[in-house]
Amino acid sequence: MADYILGIESSCDETAAAVVRDGRKLCSNIIRSSAPIHEKYGGVVPEIASRSHLEAIVPVVAEALSEAGISFSDLSAVGVCTGPGLLGSLLVGVSAAKMLAFASEKPLISVHHLAAHIAANYLVAPELEPPFLALVVSGAHSHIVAVDSYTNFRILARTRDDAPGEAYDKISREMGLAYPGGPKLDKLAREGNTEALELPQSSFQDSLDFSFSGIKTASLNALNKAKQMSRRRQCTREQILSNKDLAASFQSAVVSVLISHLELALDQGSWEKLAIAGGVSANSHLREEAEALAERRGLNLYLPPLNLCTDNAAMTAAQAYYQFRDKDFAPLNQNATANWELGQSFPKTRKRL
Ligand code: KG4
Ligand code: ZN
Repeated sequence: MADYILGIESSCDETAAAVVRDGRKLCSNIIRSSAPIHEKYGGVVPEIASRSHLEAIVPVVAEALSEAGISFSDLSAVGVCTGPGLLGSLLVGVSAAKMLAFASEKPLISVHHLAAHIAANYLVAPELEPPFLALVVSGAHSHIVAVDSYTNFRILARTRDDAPGEAYDKISREMGLAYPGGPKLDKLAREGNTEALELPQSSFQDSLDFSFSGIKTASLNALNKAKQMSRRRQCTREQILSNKDLAASFQSAVVSVLISHLELALDQGSWEKLAIAGGVSANSHLREEAEALAERRGLNLYLPPLNLCTDNAAMTAAQAYYQFRDKDFAPLNQNATANWELGQSFPKTRKRL
């Protein structure tokens, strides 16, 4: 008999619910984003995000079930993202999931947000099975992960400062682009000169860890210098440093760091498969460079389609299915957490809800 899992995701500004069959087949995938409201603030306002989740969660879940053509009684489990993310936002999804699991007497499954991002690949690649190497790049994280099994993860590299998505959003905000700037900067970069700015690409000795703060700071400094110069010369900032050139130089430096660290990680293992995941995996240059890397190294490359790169609940349901198979059920007093290391058990909190 098929197992239908309802997934719920509310870790940032997307309220999402989805139904997935046997961890692989997408039956519905509903996403409501509050990003347009955050636009005018230049970034996600946590309080507004939580309130938007409260308004959206019930209709979004109802729509996910109705589009899948099933009811609560057909579900095998309810999977929910319990962290990491914005605590107030996470709590809305977690509370809804607990209520649904309790009322329908189905197991509750606590899913790590980054494990879910990786699992987005299962929805489009039926042949993909662990072990494989994954690069997870999002608004808040940048990890190279050894996916040893569906439920066992080892972090081989992490960012020591900014996440790439965070840097994309910050630079684009300073360029005058609306939140989220990542996709807009990506588009501009296609037409710019990657060598307009020389940006520092730092790395650490004896470590695969990333650092993006140097690239971010140097880009912001170049932008501010161009603004000052334009005032002195009475011309526009774009005449001195165009958004296209800044975007192209920034994007080229970020992707070059990501790919070179992936190369090093590949040198240290005997990987045959590489998966890319997270919001920044929608980036066109990263996708091209990952394809070139896979070609050079004879790897099978897995990239989610664009709608499954950024936050969604289909990925949550896909990952929850593999935890369901392991009977990795969460208690009905399950909490949410802002911080949770991938590959570790859910952090112990003094007080449970
Ligand atoms: O995974 P995600 O939806 O949320 C987090 O878990 O953080 O990632 C969102 C991030 C944002 O920073 C957004 O600007 C970035 O992914 N992003 C992109 C692109 N599409 C989304 N960054 C670069 N290029 C893109 N095409
Ligand atoms: Zn995410």
